[in-house]
Amino acid sequence: MLTSKRAQFSLPPQVSYLNCAYMSPLHKDVEKAGIRALRGKRNPVLIAADDFFRDSDALREAYASLIHADDPKRMVIIPSVSYGMANVVKNLSIGKGQHILVVAEQFPSNYYPWKTLCDEQGAELHIVVPPQDYSDRGKRWNEYILDAINTNTRAVAIGHVHWADGTLFDLQAIRKRTREVGALLIIDGTQSVGALPFDVQQIQPDALICAGYKWLLGPYAIGLAYYGEYFDNGKPIEENWINRKDSENFAALVNYQNDYQPGALRYEVGEHSNFIGVPMLLTAIRQLNKWQPERIQEYCRNISREAVNALREKGFIIEEEAWRGAHLFGIRLAPGMDGEKIKQNLLKYKVYVSFRGNAIRVSPNVYNTPHDFQRLVKALTSI
Ligand SMILES: Cc1ncc(COP(=O)(O)O)c(C=O)c1O
Repeated sequence: MLTSKRAQFSLPPQVSYLNCAYMSPLHKDVEKAGIRALRGKRNPVLIAADDFFRDSDALREAYASLIHADDPKRMVIIPSVSYGMANVVKNLSIGKGQHILVVAEQFPSNYYPWKTLCDEQGAELHIVVPPQDYSDRGKRWNEYILDAINTNTRAVAIGHVHWADGTLFDLQAIRKRTREVGALLIIDGTQSVGALPFDVQQIQPDALICAGYKWLLGPYAIGLAYYGEYFDNGKPIEENWINRKDSENFAALVNYQNDYQPGALRYEVGEHSNFIGVPMLLTAIRQLNKWQPERIQEYCRNISREAVNALREKGFIIEEEAWRGAHLFGIRLAPGMDGEKIKQNLLKYKVYVSFRGNAIRVSPNVYNTPHDFQRLVKALTSI
């Protein structure tokens, strides 16, 4: 079982940071990797052609291992989720009468691309809304999703958990249903991959897109995408030199090539060698591979259990364990509770969470301890 990793981060001692879903704090080794990399440009003589490829290849391998994928060449460096999704949408045509399926209040970078695609091609965007009451909400919402998938579904675009309240989506059941009707499954893993196990071989998504600065513990403006076989002969949203065959040979770059690099590398962002971001994200993901997402999940469940029980007893509404993340969950107020006072109290106790929709979003990680949750309970209940 994991123990607290707080000493490996530089969070101020008085702060209870329960907001990794907003942005992770910086792991000390990731910080060191970034500073080392920044200094690397002092003397470009020391940056060789090989350096354009080595760390990004290592990053692909580390990420493939994290998500249990067998081909690192399907791991693609992207600057943002919207970029990764743009590659998906560019390679997807949809007919009139067909639809894309998303869930209610999905993160905008996994909503607008689909809205635009449907508007442009005269198709429909179907939004599966959750039940209006909170009894068995997660379980019933999942049932609604499965019921909404039919032979007119072109793709389901969804997270593994809902970004605002951590509702867990049963990707295996959704994959099974999408296969039955011939629909694609596109996943935004930003709020789960790193802290919640994800197995590409088990789920077999068509694409998995993930920002790096939250549960992957990386810096901002670098993330990772996995593209499955559906995208093998597709068109990338940009054409850059390094994604073409033989780009390792700098002297021959203008022997223009028709072919791309293997796997999904055609979809990689220009300047993906990103000499600062790549070593930082690589250090972070190697660390996650040591900690392991299942153990992070277990750790988050253990440190939050008492607080969850105490808050439920006081009337706060929290989804059942089976239908939410342990690393990300929503707390909803019972009628009559004063949301504004609660916000002030959280600030007073220096407990950092987010407010998303009608939920207080709590998102712990390995640097948190039961003490942070005790402060959370105090802030929410001592009014
Ligand atoms: C579910 C989800 N997807 C994506 C993002 C970030 O999107 P982008 O990388 O396009 O800025 C966030 C940020 O909060 C998110 O919560």
